[in-house]
Amino acid sequence: MDEKLKQLEENCRLANLPLKENAKNLVFGKGSSDANILFVGEAPGRNEDEQGLPFVGRAGKNLNEMLVKVGLSLEEIYIANILKYRPPENRDPLPEEIEEHTPWLIEQIKEIKPKVICSLGNYATKFFLANGEVGDMKNQPGITSVHGKVRDMGFLGMQIKLIPLFHPAAIIYKRDLLPLWEKDVGVVKKEIKESLSQKKLF
Ligand code: URA
Repeated sequence: MDEKLKQLEENCRLANLPLKENAKNLVFGKGSSDANILFVGEAPGRNEDEQGLPFVGRAGKNLNEMLVKVGLSLEEIYIANILKYRPPENRDPLPEEIEEHTPWLIEQIKEIKPKVICSLGNYATKFFLANGEVGDMKNQPGITSVHGKVRDMGFLGMQIKLIPLFHPAAIIYKRDLLPLWEKDVGVVKKEIKESLSQKKLF
């Protein structure tokens, strides 16, 4: 892994972030620092907290299946979350937690410089929409209306393609989302094929 990203993870470990106290491990991210594609989820769950790695539980299984379908390996992508520590009982992130944790995500993005960002679920999607466009997170449209719709947008001075996707955990308990998820997987496949055929420009 890239030295700068490693250093960033160590600095994050030392930071006094909310939720740190009750968590077992920091879940900073995994994958390649040179990735063109970044996946961003919501927050670590029990398995992720145990292992210190994102998406290693049941939601991770769905995400891995999608990666196989679109032909991506962990060497080509990076995976991170909005929150770096598990919220108790997997409750929803609080606004102040998002505010304090996301500067670390932003630093990761500045280092990785992805061309495509797949936001997984409501929290990640609203975070990118609010930061790339106008307004705050609570005024952004929900994932049900924006999933699978690719947006070219500016984010931190970079030009990115945002692909909002349902959260891979949602398709475990809402089976009716499965056909939509499959359709969105097709969108990801098409977009990454196009993006990867272009040279990394920055
Ligand atoms: N759900 C998430 O949003 N992130 C993880 O890392 C695991 C489950």
